[in-house]
Amino acid sequence: MDKLNIRGGHRLSGDIIVSGAKNAALPELCAALLVAGPVTLDNVPRLQDVATTLKVLRTMGATAERSSSQPDQVLIDASTINTPEAPYELVKTMRASILVLGPLLARFGQATVSLPGGCAIGSRPVDQHIKGLQAMGADIRVEHGNIVARAARLKGARITTDMVTVTGTENLLMAATLAEGETILENAAQEPEIPDLAELLIKMGARIEGHGTHRIRIQGVERLHSPSVAHRIVADRIEAGTFLCAVAATGGDVTLRGARADHLDAVIDKLREAGAHIESGQSAAGEDWIRVQSEGRLRAVSFRTSEYPAFPTDMQAQFMAVNCIAEGVARVSETIFENRFMHVNELVRLGAHIAVDGHTAIVEGIPRLSGAAVMATDLRASASLVIAGLVAEGQTVVDRIYHLDRGYDRMEAKLRGVGADIERIKG
Ligand code: EPZ
Repeated sequence: MDKLNIRGGHRLSGDIIVSGAKNAALPELCAALLVAGPVTLDNVPRLQDVATTLKVLRTMGATAERSSSQPDQVLIDASTINTPEAPYELVKTMRASILVLGPLLARFGQATVSLPGGCAIGSRPVDQHIKGLQAMGADIRVEHGNIVARAARLKGARITTDMVTVTGTENLLMAATLAEGETILENAAQEPEIPDLAELLIKMGARIEGHGTHRIRIQGVERLHSPSVAHRIVADRIEAGTFLCAVAATGGDVTLRGARADHLDAVIDKLREAGAHIESGQSAAGEDWIRVQSEGRLRAVSFRTSEYPAFPTDMQAQFMAVNCIAEGVARVSETIFENRFMHVNELVRLGAHIAVDGHTAIVEGIPRLSGAAVMATDLRASASLVIAGLVAEGQTVVDRIYHLDRGYDRMEAKLRGVGADIERIKG
């Protein structure tokens, strides 16, 4: 297993190009199942989860390849699908495979998708996905660990999910594009990846309104068509937020190119409260950018995760690392997932003073961490440990960084490009 070897204490300065959003790429790759023809996506991040999704699509008989001439471009053609099934051996490695369920059911009238297991951060059930599809007339049974779904043609329905669910909203949105009549998704997730998915679906002929709000209205159509132009995936706000936290912690001056500040209001507000200086804008060429400058010791800042546009759960571990070396005590509350504090024990190995009480962690900032061998436990925990390693005294080795590779595109190269002393040890 690969490791990252980090020697802390370096300020970061320069530019980082932010990649396309993992959590937009995954549903948008699955959206290509809705049409019998080519779909081209640009700005597709180079991630393990993207590779896994491409493999799932190929397993079904689709063409799903990264362009050899343009490495950030992916071409999918689902006109050759012959097996509308997502097997356990692939789904167990990536829960987001559940996102093939809605498209397969809508286009083929049937789908067999392995019930995703839980993952490190929680049980992560998909009952809302199933409930919504049943409301649209699907017959869904769970047999031998598989979700077996059938529907001659889905019918539009008014669906209110019990809680805000990102992939639940995405699955139901994709299914509704080909349903008969109107679907209204109440309590829909508002994360920026959802409007990005909706824009792709609209380019394919879908009729969608209200995406990005809590109420999405979809008029079903008979069939969708290939988009006439490639769709460029929105920048990854969580990757951008991760780098903002890294620079805030190490000190320095870095500009994130391609990142949208309006997708990170809650995180930027908290970093400014901590003492980082952040500005943003668009270049003459129309490229978004965010600049972060940080000098001296930050102030500890409490926060509570919640659905977008509030502070994202996917940034909780990273901001906790910033609080570890800040001045003061911070209360960090995780309200979305039941087990998303596994980075705490590893941060404590680096000397952090953190006490967990249920869904709240109390972080008492100390002047510096000390390098040690630590172990990644999940995707965002890995990023938290990298940030901690960048500021710890001496050497930090982060093991099991296959977790990191699922969701960060060439992270160590991007950090080295702005002065970090970090290298991958192939294992
Ligand atoms: C998406 O996961 C993201 N993944 C997660 O990012 C992110 O943490 C999460 O949304 C919350 O923002 C992708 O987009 C691929 P949810 P998702 O359904 O859709 C409960 C990362 O680090 N729930 O919004 O699986 C659930 O248990 C990953 O990039 C049900 O009970 O999350 C959780 O407590 C991690 N039943 C809450 O809702 C359901 O049917 C929110 O989950 C669905 C969800």
